[in-house]
Amino acid sequence: MDYGKFFSADVPSFLRSPVREIFRKVDLSAICSFAGGYPAAETFPLAEIPSLAASVVAKYGSKALQYGATQGVPELREAIAARYGVPASQVLITTSSQQGIDVCSRVFLDPGDAVLADNPVYLGALQSFRAYRAEVVGLNDMEGTVVDQVQGTPKFIYVIPEFNNPTGKTLTLEERKAVVRKAREMDLLIVEDSPYREIRYEGSPVTSIRELAPERTLQLGSFSKIFAPGFRLGWIIGPEELLDQIYACKQCLDLCPPVFDQYLALEFLQSGALDRNLQKTIPLYRHRRDLMLSLLEKYMPEGVRWTHPEGGLFLWLTLPEAIDTVALYDKALAAGVAYVAGSFFYTDGSHRNTMRLNYTFVEESKMEPGIKLLATVLTKSLNHKRL
Ligand SMILES: Cc1ncc(COP(=O)(O)O)c(C=O)c1O
Repeated sequence: MDYGKFFSADVPSFLRSPVREIFRKVDLSAICSFAGGYPAAETFPLAEIPSLAASVVAKYGSKALQYGATQGVPELREAIAARYGVPASQVLITTSSQQGIDVCSRVFLDPGDAVLADNPVYLGALQSFRAYRAEVVGLNDMEGTVVDQVQGTPKFIYVIPEFNNPTGKTLTLEERKAVVRKAREMDLLIVEDSPYREIRYEGSPVTSIRELAPERTLQLGSFSKIFAPGFRLGWIIGPEELLDQIYACKQCLDLCPPVFDQYLALEFLQSGALDRNLQKTIPLYRHRRDLMLSLLEKYMPEGVRWTHPEGGLFLWLTLPEAIDTVALYDKALAAGVAYVAGSFFYTDGSHRNTMRLNYTFVEESKMEPGIKLLATVLTKSLNHKRL
């Protein structure tokens, strides 16, 4: 049967994540994988889940298994509001921050509209923007005359200010102010995607974009990296009028975020377990980052540069121009090491000499063999090119 005629005009714009394709191809436990954006499984509060679940049942009973409010259960909205110093009316719970990105795209973008985004940009965001057939313009290409090259109507700026996925970079206060200036100049909204904000292991927190421009910012948060991604819970903080439209849109997406999970997250937060867990997660991740940085220093061939993230899950490698990380990928996989080619995060697929490495998921014992394998693959490719 020819199914093609049944598909909507949006379907050709659905990008398949190359990262997820990698996971389909290989058994991650059999190789050294620096590919996924996974938190360390050791940070999941497995031992505490039974008692958290028991207190959800005791406190909320059947309410925890019933449909809930589309905006999220009021108790969790209030707890998040208190944590971030905003009124609960400015908090809406999402079924993860990926849904936050998608629902903002759905509410604000018509086909042909433009999003100004980091370039490279988080792949999941690129997938949502493309799915709504938006034009994605690199924010860093926006200086001077390039502004004129935006064809569609720009609606919002999308930015990950902390420990960016994929680059690991953090925006300074001045850079954040520049984003806000641009948004005000062009009268745009800002989607501030901040799933890693609380996972800082060096330096001091920088004022968020929401705090700089609360009137036009939707700040996305997530429980994925501070609790567990399996719960699929996140939130949006923003102006009530914008949240009201998102609320209407979310009714047709999921009716409500998972209710039992929301109460679990609430217990986790209110009992102090979330902060205790963060106190364990942060040194673990700092250690893994330092380990990866020292191994890169030890094994990488000359001409390879990398970022020094102050938090989060990723660092970014820039290799000599001669190296094509897309073409090298299968060789690396066959050697037993996985990464994500950097060009997948570029709106135009350029920068084929870059790659993203995750240092939180891989077991520490595999870190050195993995980086050594990667360095060998890269060195061989460089030597081959020089011949
Ligand atoms: C920048 C960024 N935004 C959003 C997400 C989605 O996270 P989740 O949907 O698990 O909250 C991720 C996941 O890695 C991410 O890196």
